[in-house]
Amino acid sequence: MSQDVKLFIQQHLQDIEQHLLAGIQQQSITETLKKSMLYSLEAGGKRVRPMLLLAVLEEFGQPLARGYDAACALEYIHTYSLIHDDLPAMDDDELRRGKPTNHVVFGEATAILAGDGLLTEAFRLLSHSTTYTDGEKISLIRLLSEAAGAKGMVGGQLMDMEAEGSAVELAHLQQIHANKTGALLQFSVQAGALLSGANEQQQQALAEYATALGVLFQVQDDILDVTADSTILGKTAGKDIAANKSTYPALLTLEGAVAERTKYHQQATEALASIGKGQGLLKSFADYITYRDN
Ligand code: IPE
Ligand code: IPE
Ligand code: MG
Ligand code: MG
Ligand code: MG
Repeated sequence: MSQDVKLFIQQHLQDIEQHLLAGIQQQSITETLKKSMLYSLEAGGKRVRPMLLLAVLEEFGQPLARGYDAACALEYIHTYSLIHDDLPAMDDDELRRGKPTNHVVFGEATAILAGDGLLTEAFRLLSHSTTYTDGEKISLIRLLSEAAGAKGMVGGQLMDMEAEGSAVELAHLQQIHANKTGALLQFSVQAGALLSGANEQQQQALAEYATALGVLFQVQDDILDVTADSTILGKTAGKDIAANKSTYPALLTLEGAVAERTKYHQQATEALASIGKGQGLLKSFADYITYRDN
């Protein structure tokens, strides 16, 4: 039966929010650092990555609580990546999740350390989890470190910075998006598949789904930078053009970017056809990513 992702998110958002915040609140951390870490977490965000992980578990009929620790570890890393992405040395942004960016409130040094703290917390949480077997922990830590690190998000962020001000080839831009954004979304799906005991063929199909979804997510992010306004986005619109970023609209025009979005949306939904699951919630997830307005 088809399931709507918006309803799914509505039903499970509170649980994720509670775990995300409690995980930090319960710890004894030096006060300013704790405040700064919680500031960016409490600012909200769509929680797309944790929800995607839970959606895979749902499709495979697994209890969603099995996903909480992996989902929180992932959202900690995503939140750290945003804090660092906004720093003056990177995108130099002053608005994030509808609030002044972390470094604007706490200063650069604390913002850098809050990011470092969230990054490290992700692996502490996974290694301490009472939900997973030792084998599952090692697999999750391996997958998350690969997705977040130099061969994934961190590498993609550097490629993004290096591409500033130059007209890159489309294939190269796709590579940047796959790394800086796709890698963490790939982890959502891989972790969900791992914890659901998906077979090899299903894992393969889910990986194709996630690959398309990852690029799709960043293409839509680039489109929204041009078409949305800052109040709805919760971050500064028009920033990519001002910074001369290499984006899909910059390279292909807005129309061309929309055509690429349609292509990746199609690829994502086609991949689902071969797993015999995911025609409801995961299909709806791809629709949501494509047509979201923030
Ligand atoms: C923004 O991610 C950064 C990108 C990878 C494009 P999100 O759009 O998921 O940001 P939040 O978590 O909702 O704030
Ligand atoms: C950032 O991409 C991707 C990350 C790994 C944080 P962007 O720089 O386009 O993200 P926004 O638009 O600032 O959220
Ligand atoms: Mg950036
Ligand atoms: Mg940015
Ligand atoms: Mg952006």
